[in-house]
Amino acid sequence: MLLDQHGRVVNYLRISVTERCNFRCLYCMPEKPFSWVPKENLLTFEELFKFVKITIDEGVNKIRITGGEPTLRGDLSTFIKMIHDYKPDVDLALTTNGYLMPLYAKEYKEVGLKRINMSLDSLKPDVVNKIAKKDVFSEIIKGIEASIEAGLRVKLNTVPMKGINDGEIIDLLEFAKSKKIPLRFIKYMENQHADSSLKGVQSDEILEVISKKYNFKKVEKDNNSPAQYYELEDGYQFGIIEPHKDDFCKTCNRLRLTAEGFVIPCLYFDEAMSIREHVRAGDIDAAANVLKEILRNKPEKNRWANSENESSSRAFYETGG
Ligand code: 5AD
Ligand code: SF4
Repeated sequence: MLLDQHGRVVNYLRISVTERCNFRCLYCMPEKPFSWVPKENLLTFEELFKFVKITIDEGVNKIRITGGEPTLRGDLSTFIKMIHDYKPDVDLALTTNGYLMPLYAKEYKEVGLKRINMSLDSLKPDVVNKIAKKDVFSEIIKGIEASIEAGLRVKLNTVPMKGINDGEIIDLLEFAKSKKIPLRFIKYMENQHADSSLKGVQSDEILEVISKKYNFKKVEKDNNSPAQYYELEDGYQFGIIEPHKDDFCKTCNRLRLTAEGFVIPCLYFDEAMSIREHVRAGDIDAAANVLKEILRNKPEKNRWANSENESSSRAFYETGG
């Protein structure tokens, strides 16, 4: 079992397999992203898997593959299969913008993927296209359907933003409800790479809007989920994720691994250690020591928990959000 200095059991690994993305979402990336990490710095799936195995052997039982956009990394199903074959009962999930899911949903499911989280920020094609800065709406909708059809468990993520999609909270909720899949509203997190004019919607404002149409009750918080769920009278549940909240870090059970081989103890914490040279040299003991060191350094709270104005210089598209 992986235990950190603050008594938290770490059982969840998020792996960013690429920082590249085919979208340029307003809340995530500038239109012209700088230079990408050179290809030679990226670890192969075999190299990443050497570290993944260590974490599974130590008790990680939940793994999420993220990016950037993970479906852009060639042959992702090989990596999914490696993890699944090593330990089939790992809760194996993917976060994707959905654009390529019409192509890959079935293949990923067949090699062991269990769940996906997809972004859906609006039901209006022009709004979705404006957020992603690309004509993506119809592929996203097809991606949701293809994933449900393939038998993957799907959750939708919406980032409500003032003046952009804040008038669609009910429509999005009803869309997800009609598909019988949970929707989570993620509170916009400021970061240096996003459009500087963006303003998020507060969670009490979201609840207020929903309460005008539906009665709902708070569901007891599951410590393994970052979301606070609410249940409508017909049993449908939606969630709110609010990473700035005081108690957000108390139950943090996660570590992050990037495509370059950085192990990151906390999204809002700039300290990271690299396993790249260790896994390339096949030095598993050294990689396992990095894991121990990272657990020793995992901070009690993210920097935003201390001050709303703090932000990390590490981009979400790099660390996998
Ligand atoms: N604030 C809140 N959520 C974000 N996401 C990406 N950037 C941000 C941000 N700045 C979320 C999107 C997407 C997931 C990968 O991360 O909703 O679904
Ligand atoms: Fe790409 Fe996801 Fe960032 Fe949008 S939020 S630009 S889809 S990595």
